[in-house]
Amino acid sequence: MDVNQAIKSRRSIRKYSDEDISADKIGALLQAARLAPSGLNAQPWRFKVIQNPEDIKWLAKEATRGQRWVGGANVVFLCCADLSKYIDDAKANVRFLRDSGVLPPEMLSGIEEYVQKAGDAPAEILRSAAATNCSIAITQMMLQAVELDLGTCWVGMYDEKAIKERFALGDHFAVVALLTAGYPAEHPEARPRKSIEEIIIP
Ligand SMILES: Cc1cc2nc3c(=O)[nH]c(=O)nc-3n(C[C@H](O)[C@H](O)[C@H](O)COP(=O)(O)O)c2cc1C
Repeated sequence: MDVNQAIKSRRSIRKYSDEDISADKIGALLQAARLAPSGLNAQPWRFKVIQNPEDIKWLAKEATRGQRWVGGANVVFLCCADLSKYIDDAKANVRFLRDSGVLPPEMLSGIEEYVQKAGDAPAEILRSAAATNCSIAITQMMLQAVELDLGTCWVGMYDEKAIKERFALGDHFAVVALLTAGYPAEHPEARPRKSIEEIIIP
């Protein structure tokens, strides 16, 4: 399967069979996430892999705003951003780029100022920037899943506070999405998309 096929055949899947996803396939999804690009290579994504049926039932009943279908997933990835390491990792990468001579000197001060500003930004701005990076990793997981015959669905409606409490996620984690996964038990048609004309700004 090539990338274009994966992009075209991916659907949000909300019905799954009982078949378990193997550890190898879970590993392949995490590898796809790991290889995603991120601003200043900061890689803020962190994943908690939920496989315990009781936990998945709890997510469906108590923490996804009435989305009972979540309970049929075989695995739910809690997609988080580590806000405590985000800026430090970005700074370390700037230092690495500077020391290895990759960054031309005329770019250095601009980048250093950019990272400093990001470090001083309010928590909500930091969270949003980290979430942008995590979204790329999650998208790579969704596309990798297609090749592995798995279905996924991005879940954006959830109760972050309840989830952080249940899974003892520290304050430095922001939960930016849930990703359900399993073998599809439905094969929906493609959902409508805007035309190219509608998305081009003339
Ligand atoms: C940021 C984001 C949040 C979403 N949240 C939910 C959600 O909470 N529940 C759900 O069933 N689908 C959710 N979806 C899936 C969308 O409904 C779906 O991608 C869209 O309808 C297009 O369908 P497709 O993915 O099959 O092409 C979300 C998707 C994204 C990207």
